[in-house]
Amino acid sequence: MTTILVTGGCGFIGSAVVRQLLGARPEVRVVNVDALTYAANPATQRELERHARYRLERADIADTGALARLFTTHKPDGVLHLAAESHVDRSIDDATVFLKTNVTGTAVLLDCATAHWRTLTGSARERFRFVHVSTDEVYGSLGPAGHSTEESPYAPNSPYAASKASSDHLARAWHRTHGLPVVTSNGSNTFGPYQFPEKLIPLMIVRALTGASLPVYGKGENVRDWLYVDDHAAALVALLERGQPGEKYNVGGGNERRNIDVVRTLCAILDELVPDARGSHAERITFVADRPGHDLRYSIATAKIRRTVGWEPRQPFEAGLRATVAWYVANRHWWEPVLRQEYDGRRLGLGGAA
Ligand code: NAD
Ligand code: TYD
Repeated sequence: MTTILVTGGCGFIGSAVVRQLLGARPEVRVVNVDALTYAANPATQRELERHARYRLERADIADTGALARLFTTHKPDGVLHLAAESHVDRSIDDATVFLKTNVTGTAVLLDCATAHWRTLTGSARERFRFVHVSTDEVYGSLGPAGHSTEESPYAPNSPYAASKASSDHLARAWHRTHGLPVVTSNGSNTFGPYQFPEKLIPLMIVRALTGASLPVYGKGENVRDWLYVDDHAAALVALLERGQPGEKYNVGGGNERRNIDVVRTLCAILDELVPDARGSHAERITFVADRPGHDLRYSIATAKIRRTVGWEPRQPFEAGLRATVAWYVANRHWWEPVLRQEYDGRRLGLGGAA
């Protein structure tokens, strides 16, 4: 058996990674280290725990004692590190927990992984990888043209992006200083089933399904490069198997869209799947105060991972959006409790500027 320690496996992308590891590879056991924050959906965890080769270890990645024990107990063959505070708007309102989890937590995890990796010998030591999962937001905002490459300088603009940039530097430093075989991914905006309804796409879908307005920040002209969640998960698994230690890889969907166009496309799909007798869903689009420091455009060049790892995204954007809307329509039991208990869809991220 091969044991993979995944952090943040009850979250959006982490749970897709766990499903892929367990589904496609009969020899893999997954140990999911997750603190079960607001972003972890209990329904996701219930679904995962039906699997015999899956185990949840509830722990905070910033807890050194707990993490050291988990490495000693499970002796993983590799680590996929996804646990993070992940929402830009929340980081504008309060950055503290972003520093604790994304920066301190990553340092603790790197330390514990290094201590464990040093105990390995032979092929186990050769094959061990620590995949650090990061974001394209570390490169900062682009103008209307051009792409960020793996060589582009870091210029994070939100507290979230700054905390992720810090974690990337830590991952790099643990490789250079301690030799830990770290591989870093910088992924673009991801969407699909099981995403917490605070991010643009699921928020618009659940607000449309509950008859609420659809708040677009500013003029809706900001551009994101959208990546379907199963494609993102496949890239991370490919990096675990074929990523080169010390290298970083951009992971992007190649689907640059303005926010307003994404929301209009969602409305057209909703009009087909769940028509509203009062009119098109698009009539509920409202333009609201912009996000402070709102990055205009993200776009990453993905030639490196395509060429050297052999990964490429498979899901066309509009088909992915349709699958996502259909999933939220069919899985109200997953998101309705979230709206009642964790997050009611209110505006976040004005940072006291409202
Ligand atoms: P998410 O917010 O959906 O899930 C985060 C998970 O981490 C949750 O299960 C939560 O309980 C867990 N967690 C949070 N703090 C923890 C802690 N201190 N200890 C242990 N577990 C903790 O996140 P996501 O959208 O799935 O993102 C996963 C990773 O991918 C993050 O590192 C994020 O920065 C990165 N990323 C996300 C996107 C995106 O569009 N969602 C794009 C690129 C990169
Ligand atoms: P988001 O999903 O929060 O991802 P990120 O900030 O990491 O890119 O937001 C995606 C884009 O959508 C971003 O430009 C902000 C915008 N947005 C809205 O216009 N309205 C909303 O209610 C939200 C949550 C985001």
